[in-house]
Amino acid sequence: MNKRKIKENIYWLGAIDWDRRLFDSLVPLPDGTSYNAYLIEGSEKTALLDAVDPAMTDTLFSQLQDTAKVDFIISHHTEQDHSGTIPLLLERYPNAKVLTTPRGKTLLMDHLHLAEEVLVTVADGETLSLGDKTLRFIHTPWVHWPETMVSYLEEDRILFSCDFFGSHIAASELYVQDQARVYEAAKRYFGEIMLPFRAVISKNLEKLADLPVDIIAPSHGQVYNQPDWIVEAYRDWVLHPPRNLVVLPFISMHGSTRIMVDHLTAALTERGVQVELFNLTVTDIGKLAMALIDAATIVVGSPTVLAGPHPLTAYATFLANALRPKAQFVSIIGSYGWGGKTVETLAGMITNLKAEVLEPVLCKGLPDQSTFAALDQLADTIAQKHRENGFQ
Ligand code: FEO
Repeated sequence: MNKRKIKENIYWLGAIDWDRRLFDSLVPLPDGTSYNAYLIEGSEKTALLDAVDPAMTDTLFSQLQDTAKVDFIISHHTEQDHSGTIPLLLERYPNAKVLTTPRGKTLLMDHLHLAEEVLVTVADGETLSLGDKTLRFIHTPWVHWPETMVSYLEEDRILFSCDFFGSHIAASELYVQDQARVYEAAKRYFGEIMLPFRAVISKNLEKLADLPVDIIAPSHGQVYNQPDWIVEAYRDWVLHPPRNLVVLPFISMHGSTRIMVDHLTAALTERGVQVELFNLTVTDIGKLAMALIDAATIVVGSPTVLAGPHPLTAYATFLANALRPKAQFVSIIGSYGWGGKTVETLAGMITNLKAEVLEPVLCKGLPDQSTFAALDQLADTIAQKHRENGFQ
């Protein structure tokens, strides 16, 4: 992809990674991704905002072949998909300074071994004149590491937001075309990497609230030339109470836990509670992370293996605990062969969740009528808790 003009002397640079299917060796990328960098040629100085994943270095350098001078490299975020090419950029532009937050400075030295003398820290709210264009730096920690910031181009009302508002989508069109598709990708992205940091992201949204923004240019996915909806979506994901939703990740080895899962799902549905099932043998964990944004209750369905939970349910539980979702109730259901400590082990893995543990339902072997009655009771309790808390 060649560089593309956004406005006069403002360009999208970067790489569309159509083929990538896994990020951080963890996050599925069903739609690929992009690494967006931006070039701003002011009347006096030129700034390059972020870079690309090192695997895409050649693409970025080919887009810069006519750019003889870069005065500033703005590093909004140290993660290597945006910063990994900076050492090579400094070889090509040896007089450039790398501008970042104070925390970003130490992280760039740690992760890329950048020399201290090339790094310049910028304060929250500080501005940088490029001549006829002015960048304002706004510190926005935890979108998605502690050092992150965004840049606001005052004359053109463009917010360069890096991971903030981003989405993992590979697309040839520069601007968002299909809002529903981008909404889902952006929500998935929020769930995967920002869900634990809702409190500070809420403050970041407040800091940006008074900025007149015509365009949001993130570092992944498409550019928003009608940005209001994605900001509203973030407000919803960050601030909205949990919804009347049970997320139910599960494994079944010989069918018994599955029978329990299906019974509970039907019972909850009859009581007006929405349920999303995730069979962990086939689940895309990005979808699970997305559902956790909204869930009021998490029920883990696990058989007992070698006296403990199935490893895949332990993985999902560990993930849910790490993401610190809004869920206020949790429970465990499942079948065991002869004994074990599945409940104790899983319960010990959710220490981050500020959630009430509802009475688990375990059965030995095939579930019978007493198991179904206990599942009905669990469904009653969940429905009642959701009603009492006004979850809709
Ligand atoms: Fe796109 Fe947190 O890096």
